[in-house]
Amino acid sequence: MAGRFSFRKVPSPPVEPALPDETAAPEGIAWTVFAEGSPEAAAVIAPPPPPPPPAPAPAAVVPANPVMRDKLLDAKVRLHRRLIEEINLSALEKLPEDEIRKHIQQLVSQYVLVERLALNTQELADFVTEILDEMTGLGPIEPLLKDGSISDILINGHECVYIERGGMLEPTAVRFKDEAHLLRIVNKIVSAVGRRVDESHPLCDARLLDGSRVNVAIRPVAVDGPLVSIRKFSKKPLHLNKLVEVGALRPQMAELLAALVKARVTTIISGGTGSGKTTMLNALSAFISDKERLITIEDAAELQLQQPHVARMETRPPNVEGKGEIRQRDLVKNALRMRPERIILGECRGEEAFDMLQAMNTGHEGSMATIHANNPREAISRLEQMIGMAGLPMTIASTRGQIAAAIRIIVQLSRLSDGKRKVMSIAEITGMEGEILQMQEIFKYVRTGTLEDGTVQGHFVATGVRPRVLTDLAAKGIKIPSNYFDPGHPL
Ligand SMILES: Nc1ncnc2c1ncn2[C@@H]1O[C@H](COP(=O)(O)OP(=O)(O)OP(=O)(O)O)[C@@H](O)[C@H]1O
Ligand SMILES: [Mg+2]
Repeated sequence: MAGRFSFRKVPSPPVEPALPDETAAPEGIAWTVFAEGSPEAAAVIAPPPPPPPPAPAPAAVVPANPVMRDKLLDAKVRLHRRLIEEINLSALEKLPEDEIRKHIQQLVSQYVLVERLALNTQELADFVTEILDEMTGLGPIEPLLKDGSISDILINGHECVYIERGGMLEPTAVRFKDEAHLLRIVNKIVSAVGRRVDESHPLCDARLLDGSRVNVAIRPVAVDGPLVSIRKFSKKPLHLNKLVEVGALRPQMAELLAALVKARVTTIISGGTGSGKTTMLNALSAFISDKERLITIEDAAELQLQQPHVARMETRPPNVEGKGEIRQRDLVKNALRMRPERIILGECRGEEAFDMLQAMNTGHEGSMATIHANNPREAISRLEQMIGMAGLPMTIASTRGQIAAAIRIIVQLSRLSDGKRKVMSIAEITGMEGEILQMQEIFKYVRTGTLEDGTVQGHFVATGVRPRVLTDLAAKGIKIPSNYFDPGHPL
């Protein structure tokens, strides 16, 4: 096996043992690394200064006094039931928010007196807000949805809610009265998009009104009660400049990526769960010309393309009788009849890979997709597997040939142990040699260590490889300074 790859290795700075072995290549993919003692090593020895630390994350959701909280939770749910019985909800929902608030405030004040709840003005106001959230929003998680610093909300049964903030998970004091309360909220979420969950269909994807992506699993598949995972919709999508600012990549890398998108060089974004794939896809899509017609295909529409001419499509799960499913593959095939200039596939994860590659190979260059993989070589292997799922009799060599012809660049993302998202690698596919797919790395992130507080240390380097795609860029009038690729030149 080893004889099929000839690696030249760069002496890496000390790296933590937990890191994946970047030198082991799977069969069929050649990976160019660098000559021992070459000038590239200099860049590794003299790392550029680390980017400034980001602003501290806002304080966590403050846990209230547990006894009081339980009492309030109980009161809230009871009051909510009464309100639903006593008032005309649909009439109320038509009123402006401040009118509803006034109305609810009166009712709550009376109720608080009757129930002898000892609340000060602030607590009363909070209680009114919570009741409002129960009635018009998603109950206890509503404050989490409103908090812009939270990116994910993960509900593990009615008593356990985690959030992700600044890339790190933290528990919250938020909880539901009981499982029925959580289920009521779950049903509110899924029914809003015309779906339902029940014992016979315990899994469901949905989207909140604000665009947040939701996945729900209930009993019997969720053993300890409903599991809800919400990926919050970021109201201000991160622009590529912002990603540079937060240290996800260096300006030279961003300039190259932007140029590749402008020049319609087909790019795949690879990364693990929550590594920032969709964010990067959004950021890169900003460099697509306004004149192009784009078609997006997603399971739950999350992308926020800024172009004027975007046609968005979403898959559909089967109905109760198990019929009517519309898969990503159907949508990719259909998109080809919709005169797209580029197809943007939110996440390529199955048989649609075949049709997507066909599209990329037949005049839809510059199409983009994300893929779930831990490094660029794995992304290729995953693509090979996915193309196999299309069930066509293709040899591995022709599959690889298709991939090599369709895709030029792989942008690899990762969420590091300190929660930061980084572009770990920008790799170029340069073609095939026999049955072997040739790939070379242009930029990479070199991790040098971890501080006591868990902060990961490292820096970006150019590997010294001059991308072949620069010739294509030059032909389209886009010039990238060649010193960007010089490993001696700090990024
Ligand atoms: N470089 C970054 N710095 C800080 N936050 C980021 C960065 N990239 C992405 N995020 C945030 O991380 C969260 C996850 O990002 P995103 O949805 O892009 O990941 P993903 O890889 O597409 O996830 P999934 O695998 O679940 O689809 C989002 O809230 C996003 O705003
Ligand atoms: Mg995503």
